[in-house]
Amino acid sequence: MLKKTLLVFSVLMIVSGCSTIITPVRAGEPLPSSEEEKKILAVLDDMDKKQRPGMMNVPVEDGRLLRLLTEAANAKHVVEIGTSNGYSGIWFCLALHKTGGTLTTYEIDAARAALARENFRRAGVDKIVTLIEGDAHEQVTKLKDPIDMVFLDADKTGYIDYLNKLLPLVRPGGLIIAHNMNPRMADPIYIKAITSDPRLETIFLNMQAAGVGVTLRKR
Ligand SMILES: C[S@@+](CC[C@H](N)C(=O)[O-])C[C@H]1O[C@@H](n2cnc3c(N)ncnc32)[C@H](O)[C@@H]1O
Repeated sequence: MLKKTLLVFSVLMIVSGCSTIITPVRAGEPLPSSEEEKKILAVLDDMDKKQRPGMMNVPVEDGRLLRLLTEAANAKHVVEIGTSNGYSGIWFCLALHKTGGTLTTYEIDAARAALARENFRRAGVDKIVTLIEGDAHEQVTKLKDPIDMVFLDADKTGYIDYLNKLLPLVRPGGLIIAHNMNPRMADPIYIKAITSDPRLETIFLNMQAAGVGVTLRKR
């Protein structure tokens, strides 16, 4: 009897202990601090609820991460490969309208590019966005200005080409952020490039979902 009671007690202790460890801490909703921010967040929320199918957008948590990194880095020029309908781009703009920066974003699909233009306009960020329609592998070679942050979110096997073409423009202390770093989706050649180059420091975040690689071009 005593043995049985002890066993039940031990099981209860383990279960309650585990639940304390795995209870997730929620960040809560992003809280707007100005009318401009409120308008941008409302458009993001609308896109999240109504436009996701077929748009391959980053999850909300990853969007919030992009905004946070951009604002913390005081980024003035962000380059995004893979605009889709502009969802992640608008998260960048939430930070860029505070830092006084701009976004250059690339999209090969004309219909998604048109939808992105409309979303940038209704979020009121169109003036700080340059959307370039076409194949980013060719188009990025025209970039000449320094870049504070690159976001790779297009053809996965193309990441290594984008890295090789854009890294020389990324300022020391700048970031290269890559989406879909989960081993189910990521290109091993890109992973090797960002984890074996002593000029770079890489960490991986949100790997329980699509996964985000954050790579620092060291000073
Ligand atoms: C995963 S979606 C981007 C999602 C977007 N970053 C977001 O979170 O809202 C990838 C996009 O990259 C575009 N794309 C694929 N290859 C491309 C290329 N070579 N040049 C430009 N855009 C490309 C696709 O048409 C697609 O819209």
